[in-house]
Amino acid sequence: MAWIASAFKALCLSFLFVSVACRSTNGSKTFTSIWKSACARSGSSKIYVPNGTFYLGGAVVFEGPCINQIEFIIDGTLLAPSNPGDIKNKTWINFRYINNLLISGAGTLDGQGKESWKLNDCSKNPSCPILAMVSFLNHFIHSYNLVYKTFDYSNMGFAFVNNSRINGITSLNSKMGHFDFFSVHQFNITGVTIKAPGDSPNTDGLKFGFCSNIHISDTHIGTGDDCIAILSGVTDMDISNVKCGPGHGISVGSLGKGKDDKDVNGLTVRDTVFNGTSDGIRIKTWESSISQIVVSHLVYENIQMINVGNPINIDQKYCPYPPCKKKGESHVQIQDLKLTNIYGTSKNKVAVKLKCSKSFPCKNVELVDINLENKGSKGPSTAVCENVHGSAHGKMVPEHCLNGPW
Ligand SMILES: *[C@@H]1O[C@H](CO)[C@@H](O)[C@H](O)[C@H]1NC(C)=O
Ligand SMILES: *[C@@H]1O[C@H](CO)[C@@H](O)[C@H](O)[C@H]1NC(C)=O
Ligand SMILES: *[C@@H]1O[C@H](CO)[C@@H](O)[C@H](O)[C@H]1NC(C)=O
Ligand SMILES: *[C@@H]1O[C@H](CO)[C@@H](O)[C@H](O)[C@H]1NC(C)=O
Ligand SMILES: *[C@@H]1O[C@H](CO)[C@@H](O)[C@H](O)[C@H]1NC(C)=O
Repeated sequence: MAWIASAFKALCLSFLFVSVACRSTNGSKTFTSIWKSACARSGSSKIYVPNGTFYLGGAVVFEGPCINQIEFIIDGTLLAPSNPGDIKNKTWINFRYINNLLISGAGTLDGQGKESWKLNDCSKNPSCPILAMVSFLNHFIHSYNLVYKTFDYSNMGFAFVNNSRINGITSLNSKMGHFDFFSVHQFNITGVTIKAPGDSPNTDGLKFGFCSNIHISDTHIGTGDDCIAILSGVTDMDISNVKCGPGHGISVGSLGKGKDDKDVNGLTVRDTVFNGTSDGIRIKTWESSISQIVVSHLVYENIQMINVGNPINIDQKYCPYPPCKKKGESHVQIQDLKLTNIYGTSKNKVAVKLKCSKSFPCKNVELVDINLENKGSKGPSTAVCENVHGSAHGKMVPEHCLNGPW
């Protein structure tokens, strides 16, 4: 215990502008009381985590509203307990109901996820956390508190946070997702590094639901799941200069399973590299989905694919774990999608996969200058289309298979 106590002594001493009594050796409690004083202070506050390793052995919640802007500077390493039970199977570090928060620094959030990854494998474990998460998201909009009853032991979560940003920290080996955002508006993420092994299940990099006006740039994400997951109700998101790999690419969805799912509208992904990922540009909607929603105005431009499994992949028959009911077609309408200057190498022969819904065919899909070569041994790359209307211009490798304008 001694090193923890002295670590927190150092933490308290270096806490710049708010003085607190640091008697407790429980890291979470110390942090929470520092936060409370900072939050109640008039005038802006800084909370500083200096160089060194600090064990933060429980889940911690930083809740507003706060009187003023708070800057959280992390230069050291915050270490999570390795047992997810120690953070009650919930998100480790939580920010809620806050405006004007800045998280910065050269430090690291180390989720120590290795022990919990075996719990995350839904293909083998029907009560796995991600299934709880899916059913939870279905009800989320009505009852926010449910989130705290489900499993989602992410490194850091933001809910009802506006006008804020993260700049420069590293998130390592989260137990599940690295950063989760729910009902977050006007939020910028720059210079962030996110790392977990390519075979660590459900370690999404950045995950968004019911968010708007999000900017992500100059960020490097390599995990065992989606680099960026864009879920229900996300509007106006701008992604640029992101490096993604290993991982499952930048995904819109999965969508359409829950009856309270909302539209996704306005996404731009520019100047981004996918390196060794299973997928690149991906949109997935559940087959036989019940919610009738629209995914529209998506722009992808200047995207390099390096040995990517499925560089362009629209899948409206998504069903990752059985049983798949196969009761009907997806009710999610995908429209106004523009892909410009997408180039590089595909690991599979099918480099462009556009499998849309029979009931709601994809509309106004525009392809401009696509150059994706097959790196495998099976000959030139190909495209597959189902129920997709649009147009193509410029270089087109593989040859497109769109159904003409609609
Ligand atoms: C913190 O550690 C980093 C990397 O080891 C070093 O570059 C930096 O100067 C240190 N900062 C302080 C205030 O000690
Ligand atoms: C956390 O999840 C594990 C695995 O599902 C479960 O056995 C354990 O009881 C849970 N612990 C808490 C504190 O909820
Ligand atoms: C946050 O922004 C959203 C969307 O603009 C707005 O509806 C909400 O009231 C804002 N919340 C706060 C606490 O300002
Ligand atoms: C986010 O970045 C955009 C574009 O650079 C900028 O206009 C906006 O003010 C930034 N917002 C925050 C909260 O930093
Ligand atoms: C792609 O990833 C490989 C393997 O990790 C690495 O050697 C290579 O430098 C990366 N290429 C780019 C352009 O980042």
